Amino acid sequence: MAEPDNLSDLEARALAELNACTDEAALRAWSAKYVGDKGALTAALKALGTLPKDQRPAYGQAVNRLKQTLLAAEEQKKAAVKEAELLASLNAAPLDVTLPGRPVSAGGLHVATKTMREIYAIFADMGFQVFRTREVEDDQSNFELLNMPPHHPARDMWDTFHTTTPGVLLRTHTSPGQIHVMRQFAPHPVRAVLPGMCYRHEAVSTRSEIQFEQVEGLAIGPNVAMADLKGTITAFARRLFGEDRQVRIRSSYFPFTEPSIEVDIDWPKDDPNADRLTKGTGWLEIMGAGMVHPTVLRNGGYDPEKVSGFAFGMGPQRITMLKYAIDDIRQFWKDDVRFLRQF
Ligand code: DAH
Repeated sequence: MAEPDNLSDLEARALAELNACTDEAALRAWSAKYVGDKGALTAALKALGTLPKDQRPAYGQAVNRLKQTLLAAEEQKKAAVKEAELLASLNAAPLDVTLPGRPVSAGGLHVATKTMREIYAIFADMGFQVFRTREVEDDQSNFELLNMPPHHPARDMWDTFHTTTPGVLLRTHTSPGQIHVMRQFAPHPVRAVLPGMCYRHEAVSTRSEIQFEQVEGLAIGPNVAMADLKGTITAFARRLFGEDRQVRIRSSYFPFTEPSIEVDIDWPKDDPNADRLTKGTGWLEIMGAGMVHPTVLRNGGYDPEKVSGFAFGMGPQRITMLKYAIDDIRQFWKDDVRFLRQF
């Protein structure tokens, strides 16, 4: 064993066995037997100590050369086995490259989200920031601070979902957000839109849902006037619905604005749905609005002697229905892709 001649025997045997390997398992066994820690090469190296001193360097070099030879041969064989296995698997289950690929289905934004973003963009151009507030409110901000004390008859406009914690409710409109913005910014001027989900205990129909989004708007500063409200709403309506839109303002009532108004836009007469949508009047309501009530300004931390403000609130779902002639509000939450894909 401990002689150069035995090394060439070892080499011949190892290479022959390597050659006979046809899969990775056999290769692993071969590797353990010859080049592994407990393999023949290690044993051969151990024999070094039994040789006379003068033969040791030459023998050591020979073992090392053999090791290089075997490792190189093993690498080559490994590559060959891999290649053969790949070829075998390809032949066993041939890949049909003529099959059409599977289309990657791309998602899209919900049509209501698109409208919301369009609304933010229009108001952003007019200097309004987006301000988000919570959907769970208390009686104070949803009603009282908006000038509706307990038992105020105007509360009847909103059928409210109450939680089991007394005084805690799901907001019925985004108007309580006005209080939150004001308390954050007072006494400085502010312009903000407040988007978000609102909840009302309503009979669900094609026109009303128990949950829907609103976008509230608020502008406060020195000398903010009704004319600013009219200008802002007209600019908004024309950008969203078309340059030649006419805006009509009717007087109305909300406890948190004085005076209060409702805003209509004219509907194109050539639209076949015009009569149905406008009930024959040619006009369609898009939002409630008004000048912020002095009590509400005070509740928000402003001095009504020094500043004034306007506010408005609209339902983007309703606006989306108008824009795209959608006739059933329930579609928004149905998650029916046949509906959603159209936008
Ligand atoms: N919060 C009202 C509603 O839900 C809408 C509204 C009307 C908001 C007038 C306003 C406003 O800010 O000034 O019916």
